[in-house]
Amino acid sequence: MAARKIAADTPELRERWGGWTFTEENRAKADWHIKKYPEGRQKSAVMPLLDLAQRQVGAETDTQGWLPLPVMEYVAEYLGMPIIRVLEVATFYTMYNLEPVGKFHVQVCGTTPCMLRGSDDIIAACKKRGMKAGHVSDDGLWSFTEVECMGNCATAPMVQINDDNYEDLTAERLDSVLDALAAGEQPKTGTQEPGRHTSEPAGGPTTLKDMVTENYDYRGEW
Ligand code: FES
Repeated sequence: MAARKIAADTPELRERWGGWTFTEENRAKADWHIKKYPEGRQKSAVMPLLDLAQRQVGAETDTQGWLPLPVMEYVAEYLGMPIIRVLEVATFYTMYNLEPVGKFHVQVCGTTPCMLRGSDDIIAACKKRGMKAGHVSDDGLWSFTEVECMGNCATAPMVQINDDNYEDLTAERLDSVLDALAAGEQPKTGTQEPGRHTSEPAGGPTTLKDMVTENYDYRGEW
């Protein structure tokens, strides 16, 4: 399970992130999220606003982004809610990074289906590149977290890297994905199994076959 501890509140942290604000573009997005909720319920937008904040910090640091305390304080103030309520949300969900991360945050699923299908090899391949839980690799490229099931058990083992999932992995397939990312390329996302489309059975689909190439409408046949 990933550690859910916020980064130490130091003078350096305050120096770097004190006075942080949304960009004009993100302020517009934040206000759009807030308007989705009834008057007086603006606090309900805390999750998308934390996500926006993390992405902006990511863009400013060329990393996946994280949430320094002054940034979370800004979000709390933006929504008129106590900082402790924001911290309750940010420390609960692993989608929020509470410490600096690398350009690519490799989250490896180590739960039973992935473990039975080889997640130990995936973790070993990550470690070979200098990835270690709670650390950013020396080249600034990689962060590593072992996480619980991410809902891709049918295509285990899998990892999530920033916003994308890579599935049906072997150590070699993961290496190819990581090499491509390090080279500034966008590798194919989803299953890495040759010939597999999404999560259909090995050997091809057995039901809804007309859906393979297009969004076929079966309703007339019911
Ligand atoms: S156990 Fe790994 S995605 Fe479900």
